[in-house]
Amino acid sequence: MKNILVTGGAGFIGSAFVRYMVEKYPDYNIIVYDKLTYAGNLDNLLPVSDEPNYRFEQGDIADRETIRRVFSQHDVDTVVNFAAESHVDRSILSPDAFIHTDVVGTYIMLDESHKHGVERFLQVSTDEVYGDIEPGEFSVEGDSFLPNSPYAASKAGGELMVRAYHVTHGLNTVITRGSNTFGPYQYPEKLIPFFVTEAIDDRPLPVYGDGMQVRDWLYVDDHAQGIALALFKGEAGEAYNIAGEDNRFNIDVTHRILNLLDKPKSLIKYVPDREGHDRRYAMNCEKLRGLGWERKFSFETAVEATVNWYRDNEWWWRKIKTGEYLDFYKKQYAARLAAADQA
Ligand code: NAD
Ligand code: TYD
Repeated sequence: MKNILVTGGAGFIGSAFVRYMVEKYPDYNIIVYDKLTYAGNLDNLLPVSDEPNYRFEQGDIADRETIRRVFSQHDVDTVVNFAAESHVDRSILSPDAFIHTDVVGTYIMLDESHKHGVERFLQVSTDEVYGDIEPGEFSVEGDSFLPNSPYAASKAGGELMVRAYHVTHGLNTVITRGSNTFGPYQYPEKLIPFFVTEAIDDRPLPVYGDGMQVRDWLYVDDHAQGIALALFKGEAGEAYNIAGEDNRFNIDVTHRILNLLDKPKSLIKYVPDREGHDRRYAMNCEKLRGLGWERKFSFETAVEATVNWYRDNEWWWRKIKTGEYLDFYKKQYAARLAAADQA
């Protein structure tokens, strides 16, 4: 392992992984390959942009020609595939890009990796492939896939192709399935950064349905280090859950954010629910613990650090909340907020 291609490395979790690897492993070359979609942001990589073991290449994971050029130019021996369309609400509004990247793009990365003789391929996946989990139950790696959103289904499709390239072609693959992740540099469309930045501006926080959905919250640095561990120590052909093991109701997370920002509960607006909304995700991550993984950050410490980061780094998110972001906001929230006002 020497030249590691990190697709989607300009996104939220990918950039945390890159910042970690570039600094911790100066002998590895880290090459970021990213299309720079609305979610890709070179500001996330500023802390490492001058490091000698870091390179950036812009491109689409579904574009074979560019991948071939990048593979041979950088003599890539390892691939970590973060690149994805990642937001459930967008997958409901416009699923095409999810099929393009999460399914077709993953297949093309696998096929080119196999042809190029890549030694290790790690696929970054999600707990959402397991679907809605009954209270008291925790998903384990052998459970069947029951994805419910177009996002979850496209990630499950990508994973099945990873399995096929391992079984059919002997590609050395590992899959990680992370839970809901939060922390600095997260695009402000996901629950925590969206609500933090909206609350800073005294704007309404649209809670879907009754707000009693449960998510398993994981700090981004714990997630990135879990992926690194699975990359180094995971067994070929296996999948590993990476869970925060901190299961909370959305409404409790919302209250915590308001409390940390000293904002009133009157900002909360209960709006019509997300279609097909999974009620609960929860995973068991004994298997990764068996490789030596341990979560370092509690939800309480990490959410406070995250709120402070957004408060101190308006330069990062204010310029994002313009243009395309506002188009999405309108499509996703205008009618919902109007319905809440009439209720
Ligand atoms: P993100 O949306 O912040 O970043 C995605 C990155 O992929 C962006 O930099 C984007 O430009 C890039 N990208 C998108 N399409 C591309 C394409 N066709 N070719 C090349 N690059 C492309 O996502 P994230 O939250 O950092 O998630 C990263 C990975 O982790 C994804 O695979 C996601 O499914 C998975 N995951 C995310 C979470 C979470 O809570 N955010 C949890 C578990 C798993
Ligand atoms: P999200 O961050 O989109 O992650 P995921 O859907 O992948 O779990 O949402 C987390 C939870 O918060 C989910 O149950 C949906 C809910 N949610 C809201 O209630 N309002 C919102 O505006 C958003 C973005 C999410």
